[in-house]
Amino acid sequence: MAFEHPYIRIKNVAPEKMDESQGWTVSEFRVVISEKEGASSTMYHATLGPGDRFQKRRNDNCDEQYYVVSGHGLAGAGTDRVEVHPGHYHLIPKGVEHWLANLSRNEPLVVIGLFDRAPNMGVAGHVHLGDITEDDLNAPRTLDSAGLEYPLVHQDAVPMVKVSRDEGWTQDYFCEPLNRSHGAGSCWMMGYFGPHTIHMKHRHDNCEEICYILKGHGLAGIGADRGELATGDVHYIPAGCEHWLANLSDTEDLAAPGWYIGVGGLDESGFNYMGQVTEEDLKQRTGEI
Ligand SMILES: [Fe+2]
Repeated sequence: MAFEHPYIRIKNVAPEKMDESQGWTVSEFRVVISEKEGASSTMYHATLGPGDRFQKRRNDNCDEQYYVVSGHGLAGAGTDRVEVHPGHYHLIPKGVEHWLANLSRNEPLVVIGLFDRAPNMGVAGHVHLGDITEDDLNAPRTLDSAGLEYPLVHQDAVPMVKVSRDEGWTQDYFCEPLNRSHGAGSCWMMGYFGPHTIHMKHRHDNCEEICYILKGHGLAGIGADRGELATGDVHYIPAGCEHWLANLSDTEDLAAPGWYIGVGGLDESGFNYMGQVTEEDLKQRTGEI
């Protein structure tokens, strides 16, 4: 039986042919979610090998948010110069010059990101602003986060959002690394699940949701679909559609960051609790991703 909703294994998505003359000097760039999946926004996955760069650019039509999955980079945003590591979330508002360079001699820099409410790459309004220079790479770092012009948040510093077990939140914690307090038009949230914890059935009437499996092994329900997800998989949930996520592991944690698109936080998402995930739900599989 086929899935009605998108369950996507990123490594199975064909890389795009990116135009180096427009500053896309990256090893691999994948469009993971876009209007093709019915989404209002474009999610990407990029691998920057040693020496690779997102050269200087701005997006005239959308904000961009990205997260460092692995590696070590130097990011520019306006006058900010910051080294980024796994666990960093960076918000780049519309129209702001920004760039990203892999600083490692050996390891790739892997990021996932969102062009917020740009349903395909063509309408994001990318403007190439030239190449990153040696002076850019050697410039003093903006060391104090209080001195940053644009939000850069590390996941270890994000406060937890209080949620209710009575409304189906049995996972260990939930937080919002980027939300309206940072000026984000789409909330970047993160759920952290210990073994066998479940975010029970619910829907968000006011927003689409994209969920990325950063680590672990889960079972996601979307409408009538039931699909197992592993590290590096993504699922997309339309507004108003029932969904849930269970950690299937006996021993491993599951971490699942993602977006509530077009709302500044869970409290604006139109959250409705819809009941427990049953033993029967946990046995069902629509197919393999
Ligand atoms: Fe949700």
